[in-house]
Amino acid sequence: MQLFDDLEDFGAFDAAVSGDVRDPYTEMARVRREEPVQRLDMSAMPHEASKPVFMVYRHDDIVEVLRDGETFSSSIIIDFFGDVFGKHVMLGMDEPEHRRYRALVSKAFSQKALARRESELVEQVANELIDAFVERGRAELVREFTFPYPTQIIAGLLGLPREDHPQFQRWSISLLSFTVNPERGIAASAALKDYFAPILADRRRRPHDDLISTLAHAEIEGESLSDEEIFSFLLLLLPAGVETTYRSTGNLLFGLLSNPDQLDAVRSDRSLLPQTIEEAVRWEPPLLSITRVATRDTVLAGVPIPAGSAVMPMLGAANRDESRYPDPDRFDVFRTPTPHISFGQGVHVCLGMHLARLEMRVALNLLFDRLPDLRLDPEGDDPHIRGQVFRSPTSLPVLFEASTG
Ligand code: HEM
Repeated sequence: MQLFDDLEDFGAFDAAVSGDVRDPYTEMARVRREEPVQRLDMSAMPHEASKPVFMVYRHDDIVEVLRDGETFSSSIIIDFFGDVFGKHVMLGMDEPEHRRYRALVSKAFSQKALARRESELVEQVANELIDAFVERGRAELVREFTFPYPTQIIAGLLGLPREDHPQFQRWSISLLSFTVNPERGIAASAALKDYFAPILADRRRRPHDDLISTLAHAEIEGESLSDEEIFSFLLLLLPAGVETTYRSTGNLLFGLLSNPDQLDAVRSDRSLLPQTIEEAVRWEPPLLSITRVATRDTVLAGVPIPAGSAVMPMLGAANRDESRYPDPDRFDVFRTPTPHISFGQGVHVCLGMHLARLEMRVALNLLFDRLPDLRLDPEGDDPHIRGQVFRSPTSLPVLFEASTG
């Protein structure tokens, strides 16, 4: 089956990008204690080769970086990904350009705008995926659920025709593989643009009830988005909205499935879902680090940072800081809620966090409702979370009481 071939392909990409690092946290904890702002002089980063890279490990130092976009610019992201996402990608914009752009796109991602999508789109996608295995009594939830789930939701939000979803999924996989196979990523980016162009032209003429129409007609003080700006946003939605959510839904399921007492507690008291989701996103963020570039000579936690240096907030390290989270390596849905940094901070704070939370909540509710006695398959192939930059489980082989229809 084409979809499964593609997912095999994605597996190869995942292995290359993630590597089989099970535990990056012990080393990160050591560096956070000994050298919380760590200078490295060797770099493959796309900034001035002679400049060092600074890794930032502590929560408060990261907040300082992310709240000062004048000193720590996001423009390095366009140097990294401009070939694939275009030069108008909001993740790489600084103020005031970013503010204007974000104001134009943010309405579509507010909690209010998403609420009506819950039953008509998110639940529908989750139910259809579960339908395919509910009678079997066993499933592999990464391939059969967590990966296709956010891709189909983004395709649905964009208003893409149902029959195009498999092709959209294939392009998504190629685009996401950009870091290991740039040619393939760039080709997919061009193909996606060709695909979106007539749809965008149509929505400019005749708006539908979908995200492309919202973007085509968004206007603030007489300003609207150009075609190129819309293409960049649509392309960004794949890594930003698919890869992160597929990985974090997997991490959430892994956390619960490998702690059956907590799984039972959440299954029988769904009011625990919000704190469970936050704990999973703290414990294993899908993305361990993000990037900025210093625009001027500065000092962070007493460490001098020359202009032009790359600066990398290590979100995963901040979330395991023992001074903020007692016993930080433990997945514990009952811990006292303390905000995490997995969605970033400041002006670039994740635009899709409400959608990500909604997707995870719907996924858990429906998996619990429809798969009684859901548990890890003890005969499974050693499922574990892995990755040095992106993290998620290798697989989630599960057993449950099969539905007899
Ligand atoms: C658990 C899932 C997710 C995590 C952990 C996550 C994490 C992040 C982080 C850390 C940033 C800030 C990056 C930076 O400052 O350089 C960010 C930005 C962003 N995210 Fe997410 N994200 C998730 C889900 C989503 C979803 C579902 C969408 C959309 C459908 C999305 C869309 C975006 C966009 C568009 C930005 C750029 C915002 C801006 O530049 O102003 N994300 N995300």
